[in-house]
Amino acid sequence: PRNVVRATDGALAVAGLSVHDVAAEYGTAVYVLDEDDLRSRCRDFRAAFPTEDVYYAGKAFLCRAVVRIIAEEGLHLDVCTGGELATALSAGMPPERIGFHGNNKSVSELTRALDAGVGRIIVDSFTEIDRLTALARERGVRPRVLVRVTVGVEAHTHEFIATAHEDQKFGFSLAGGAAAAAAFKILDEDVLELRGLHSHIGSQIFDANGFEVSARRVLALQAQIRDARGVELPELDLGGGFGIAYTTQDDPATPQDLAKRLRKIVDSECAAERLAVPHLSIEPGRAIVGPAVFTLYEVGTVKDVDGIRTYVSVDGGMSDNIRTALYDASYSATLASRASTAEPMLARVVGKHCESGDIVVKDEFLPADVQPGDLLAVPGTGAYCRSMASNYNHVPRPPVVAVRDGRARLIVRRETEDDLLALDVG
Ligand code: LLP
Repeated sequence: PRNVVRATDGALAVAGLSVHDVAAEYGTAVYVLDEDDLRSRCRDFRAAFPTEDVYYAGKAFLCRAVVRIIAEEGLHLDVCTGGELATALSAGMPPERIGFHGNNKSVSELTRALDAGVGRIIVDSFTEIDRLTALARERGVRPRVLVRVTVGVEAHTHEFIATAHEDQKFGFSLAGGAAAAAAFKILDEDVLELRGLHSHIGSQIFDANGFEVSARRVLALQAQIRDARGVELPELDLGGGFGIAYTTQDDPATPQDLAKRLRKIVDSECAAERLAVPHLSIEPGRAIVGPAVFTLYEVGTVKDVDGIRTYVSVDGGMSDNIRTALYDASYSATLASRASTAEPMLARVVGKHCESGDIVVKDEFLPADVQPGDLLAVPGTGAYCRSMASNYNHVPRPPVVAVRDGRARLIVRRETEDDLLALDVG
């Protein structure tokens, strides 16, 4: 996070608060959110996309405090389940600023979205179009929809998080003609208001070419719809997926760069197709919340394994950060509780779960005197860590603490063993 410094005692401090104070008050493992950092990333996107809409993708991390922050900072919100919708509404997110995603929205979820009056629903299948048409007709409402288009881009990211190649579950295929058929079907129904097309090519993407190809292809479809039906769709959403730096090797684009490139390609494609430039929106999740959080752990054991490697075990692991195990993701770790002049030692930071794949940081140089009781910080854990956390091995999930102006505020409390037992009703 932007407001982390090493204080005079050698310990890390975030927004003026020492990690010792955070650990003493909230325990470890704990997710520490630098609130001003989160707000400044929201503002950076707002400033870069002032006439566009920025939908924060809540799947990256959602709780009421974050909903309020992004609403205050002028962002919109993308939700993809009834649970995310409930969280957004309970925090007072204006429903017209919510977009509802998902490849298998249930009748109950769609009903709640319609009753709440969400601003737009991104439809993902013919079944959903039928479902939504029937529900809207029953209620006498005309929801605004976008069609999610699978543009056939092979994004250079992990295969589990690429979403625009042909053979996967999301959206309507462009190449096969399903996307055009979906748009025509919606235009024919007239119960749904077709606002535009949507494309999301994947996540943790650094190469802007994918967005350019995707914009070109959806705009070609936009022109095809105009030619066939005489309507120019007023909106276009290019999705999220903007990469962040997990290690020093990653070099992400700034929101300003992204805005410039996206606008340029949209403008030139629209000129080529003689289309009016649609109102643009994007859906970044990771790029807004990812860098604003670090996880603070306490070291429990340090084990040298036959001189091959040193394993440093912390009081969390794959239950609070599954990304290393699931996507082979790279993280870094820093000794947070003190400075050390000891030699660097190649270490692997592992968790406390009963599984050898329970790795938090694959390879990191830590001071050779790292010892039980030390605190370690793992940065960049704001996105897809708490939101994908589990109770594996019945480890209660860590709290989220927001720090600002030297003060900490608990925004998600630590789960307790009683919470775990509360569900166990047999
Ligand atoms: N819009 C749509 C339609 C999406 O499906 C996603 C992410 C986003 C926006 C936001 O993408 P972002 O800007 O956060 O990259 N669990 C995986 C990431 C899954 C992303 C799912 N969809 C991970 O931990 O890397």
